[in-house]
Amino acid sequence: MKILVTGGAGFIGSAVIRHLLAATDHHVVNVDKLTYAADLRSLGTPEASGRYSFEQIDICDAPAIRAAFERHAPDAIMHLAAESHVDRSIDGPGEFVRTNILGTYVLLDAALAYWRGLEPERASAFRFHHISTDEVFGELDATGLFTEETPYDPSSPYSASKASSDHLVRAWHRTYKLPTVVSNCSNNYGPYQFPEKLIPLTILNCLAGKPLPVYGTGTNVRDWLFVEDHATALVRVLTEGKVGESYNIGGNSERTNIAVVETICRTMDRLHPRAGGAPHAELITFVRDRPGHDFRYAIDASKIKRELGFEPSVDFDTGLERTVAWYLANEDWWRPLVERQYGGERLGLSGVRETAKK
Ligand code: NAD
Ligand code: DAU
Repeated sequence: MKILVTGGAGFIGSAVIRHLLAATDHHVVNVDKLTYAADLRSLGTPEASGRYSFEQIDICDAPAIRAAFERHAPDAIMHLAAESHVDRSIDGPGEFVRTNILGTYVLLDAALAYWRGLEPERASAFRFHHISTDEVFGELDATGLFTEETPYDPSSPYSASKASSDHLVRAWHRTYKLPTVVSNCSNNYGPYQFPEKLIPLTILNCLAGKPLPVYGTGTNVRDWLFVEDHATALVRVLTEGKVGESYNIGGNSERTNIAVVETICRTMDRLHPRAGGAPHAELITFVRDRPGHDFRYAIDASKIKRELGFEPSVDFDTGLERTVAWYLANEDWWRPLVERQYGGERLGLSGVRETAKK
């Protein structure tokens, strides 16, 4: 297949493209605007495969997107391009509405026109795979799991924009019969993650001897999936998923945030001890909570296991050790980002009144 991947210079998109080029024969067209979160270095040397091309396009640019469909004639779309950071969505929701909702609409519109022009065999094999998040389901209390039937109840501007885009994708299937499939995944971690997210931020702050900010009491729970396992799952959903369906993807690895940060601290104590030998955990600092902070996410991943045979291959402790080791060995990747793009300052509190806190 020729697969048009949007957001292929981001954290998950780059893992998907690395996987497609290394483990399959598919051709890849990477469509990415190259926002602050993008880094083409995360792809290595994809041109060497002879099966890769890159288009710097904003997915909201309808003529450019239509032209890309015409030029490349893809067999499938994997749509990952998005604004992805919850805290930034609190500071500036407009860009999330634009890219995540309008951008998805522009892609659907172009895909539909293109799909209608395909001859029947290619049209029935065509897929539009929308990559989404478990955050669309809102928050859980201490028990329960998100299934594919859980009603949508998003809390943040980010998750509301992703929920909107999921609804648009479903509507384009139900109304126009575009062959779509949706997947909703839990928190990813691993190499090449932009250092605004909890795990890379904690690792790099440990290295810099800076405070490790833990929001609220640190008891919020997330489910963690190694990014390379997510890439494998996504290709499975694209190639074997049933049209019109959605699939939850998870890591079976629920952890409180404080447990995640403490595990990183212990790993750093072993792999990169502080001068004088003081434990990294001394740097843990509880800070003001994220407004609208969802308490717990947890995934019932039985459908993708039962129907598509996918299970994570990397457990959380192994994946976290690999991730810490990767950041220790790849300063040349993260140093320019920390110096030029984002230095670790607190995000997500601007414009929120004290009384609006949860
Ligand atoms: P990311 O922020 O690392 O990368 C996003 C990529 O999209 C970047 O390369 C960026 O340049 C590109 N992009 C942004 N706006 C664009 C636009 N208007 N036009 C074209 N390209 C644009 O994100 P990520 O963490 O890799 O997430 C990828 C997708 O997976 C997102 O849709 C996200 O909602 C979803 N997701 C992420 C996680 C997670 O834990 N990171 C979990 C579940 C689902
Ligand atoms: O659940 C899937 C989602 O996971 C994806 O859809 C999002 O794109 C992705 O960013 C991620 O969202 P989270 O908000 O869960 O990830 P983040 O790394 O920002 O935060 C993880 C948890 O850690 C969350 O409960 C907030 C907390 N946190 C985060 C940061 C950045 C802290 O305690 N301190 C921090 O400094």
